[in-house]
Amino acid sequence: MHKTKTLTGLLRMLPVTMLLMVGVMAAKAQSIVIPIESKQNAMVLQVGPDKYLDMVYFGNKLPDKNEYNSIAKAYRLNGKTEGYNSAYTSSGNRNLLEPAISVTHADGNKSLDLKYVSHSVTKINDDISLVSITLKDSVYDFGVILNYQTYYNENVTEQWSVIEHHEKHDVVLNKYASANLYLQAGSYWLKHYHGDWAKEMRPEEEQLNHGIKTLDSKLGTRADLFQPPVFMVSLNKPAAEDNGEVLYGNLEWSGNYRIDLEVDPSNNLRLIAGINNYAADYVLKPGVEFTTPKFVYTLSANGKGEASRNLQSWARKYKIVDGEGPRLTLLNNWESTYFNFNENRLAGILKDTKTLGVDLFLLDDGWFGNKYPRNDDRQGLGDWQSNKDKLPDGVAFLTKAASDNGVKFGIWVEPEMVNPKSELYEKHPDWVVKQPQRPEYYMRNQLVLDLTNPKVQDFVFGIVDNLFTKNPALAYIKWDCNSVIYNAHSAYEKNQSNFYTDYVFGLYKVLARLRAKYPKVPMMLCSGGGGRVDYGALQYFTEYWPSDNTEPMERIFIQWEYSYFYPALASSNHVTDWGKEPIKFRTDVAMTGKLGFDIVVSKLKPDELAFCQQAVKTYKEYSEAIWHGNQYRLQDPQDNDVASIMYVDSSKNSAIMFNYLVNNRYATGSKLPIRLKGLQPDRMYTVSEVNLYPGNRSTIVNAVYSGQFLMTVGINPDVRESRTSVLIAVNGAK
Ligand code: DGJ
Repeated sequence: MHKTKTLTGLLRMLPVTMLLMVGVMAAKAQSIVIPIESKQNAMVLQVGPDKYLDMVYFGNKLPDKNEYNSIAKAYRLNGKTEGYNSAYTSSGNRNLLEPAISVTHADGNKSLDLKYVSHSVTKINDDISLVSITLKDSVYDFGVILNYQTYYNENVTEQWSVIEHHEKHDVVLNKYASANLYLQAGSYWLKHYHGDWAKEMRPEEEQLNHGIKTLDSKLGTRADLFQPPVFMVSLNKPAAEDNGEVLYGNLEWSGNYRIDLEVDPSNNLRLIAGINNYAADYVLKPGVEFTTPKFVYTLSANGKGEASRNLQSWARKYKIVDGEGPRLTLLNNWESTYFNFNENRLAGILKDTKTLGVDLFLLDDGWFGNKYPRNDDRQGLGDWQSNKDKLPDGVAFLTKAASDNGVKFGIWVEPEMVNPKSELYEKHPDWVVKQPQRPEYYMRNQLVLDLTNPKVQDFVFGIVDNLFTKNPALAYIKWDCNSVIYNAHSAYEKNQSNFYTDYVFGLYKVLARLRAKYPKVPMMLCSGGGGRVDYGALQYFTEYWPSDNTEPMERIFIQWEYSYFYPALASSNHVTDWGKEPIKFRTDVAMTGKLGFDIVVSKLKPDELAFCQQAVKTYKEYSEAIWHGNQYRLQDPQDNDVASIMYVDSSKNSAIMFNYLVNNRYATGSKLPIRLKGLQPDRMYTVSEVNLYPGNRSTIVNAVYSGQFLMTVGINPDVRESRTSVLIAVNGAK
């Protein structure tokens, strides 16, 4: 029987007035309140007399910390079974709700009852602090440390758990979540995403009802092809851009994830986020720490825009590689040549790279394989020696030719994968993920290498390391990943159910090794389009590929949705020949991120080339605002004929506004001024149109306005059929 029951039994015998007093005294004497504060918010955890750790509040912080002690009794936190608001729900005890952790002990017993032991607060620096709370089971030698790392100025928290036991034999973790949150509101509105190849980040928003809504992935290598691991939950009503309470979350994990959102019998929201336990019971040896991935979240009381800026500035400062550094503009050859190229053709493209004015040439798929030349996607993957017919002088020739042209050189790899038709497969069939007794099944004619195997990890590390060692001038890597895991089975793993989880740990080990040796070299995280975008992988990358769909109208929508969660400098946006829109529209759309091109430059008409050259210059002029400034979404393409987004540099001196016509019905356009955001009200700004197509005159008269005017009245970009995309520069007047 639990202590609380005994205590309740005792209390029942006392008169009501005394009971209240005892209640207060008990709370005072025995409950421990742990507030975790950021600049705007407080999460309040509380240990009751029964030693259970509960989450009692997450919202605006209170000026008087003592008042956190009174929060628990203000809410209806528990129903019949109690433990609704457990900060880390364990299973097999009196708690009957969806668990965050569920285990099978060494003796086969399945009960776990975690209670508070101690906690510590570590101030890592002026911005970051870490609260660690130790929970233990009283019967089994099994414990969990819950970690809450808070980024004060960004209002962001990363939460994860460290699980360890000292039982006589292995324990099986049947579920092992990173975080378990509890929110109180009148209603909950979940915005989440679905998709497929070329249809990434399609949003859906719905009110959560009682029961559990699960977001998850079982694809193995890449979480977000069908269901990205990002979401937002609005409280009381769907949040708008600048008002409403909203929580954003992302599991920092590139493999199978599971996020459960449960409106409980008390109408509160239980949220449990972690690795998907689907086919993934994890066998844990005694004395070994299991560290879950981090779940990152931010809460804003002022709408989606602020929540995005929180997460974006956190990501630039702390997560994405070189998030506060510059990015390279580039010319890629994927869509202009596919697999069909040779040294001569590439030498021409290197010249075009210089002509265009971008920083780097990126050589895509098809440069390798000899016994099985990589001339299409059916063979050669895994054989990372340059193809002697296409590149008789190797990659070294290209790095040299690039530098002779005054540009940098980057290269495509897909190191986690193998075509069955390859020397690698012939040599190491046991390195491949497949069911030994079943037929192989392929996605894009390829299989996944078994990254749980340290030898495979060395091999994958070696692919990239060799490229850098042999070509020290190599300046950029595009890391692709085009297959999911079918027929999950590892010839290396002793416990097959550890495979899915160890695969991602293996991948991160390789990436961490690479980053230790090459800390800042730009690497694009690509995955047959946006199949792998999450903060787990992005800690090793400078940028990601949002979608193979580069049709600009589609991209406006796809990039818009990614922009809620990821900063613009990480979004690789390439101008291609997809779609019928003119080059200006395509380029203007690609400029709201990290600009690149994937077109045949030599086929551009003189005006088109002149436009692109000047667009690269305009982009560089405003890149400080786009890369490191604040982003403001002004008009959503889902609800308006004209989509509008702007970026303001941190000194509020320079800003750029992008406007696109997203409805081609007769006589649509920008009818009213669009209100700007993020400027200094009392400052004067010059407003002018930039990035005009050669020969076109702007209909916007250059003029000076106060920030107050621009944010109250706004500016009409005059978007219409003959001006489908309009860029407005806003610069502090001298
Ligand atoms: C898929 C990527 O998304 C493309 O950009 C390209 O790199 C191809 N793979 C190459 O095979």
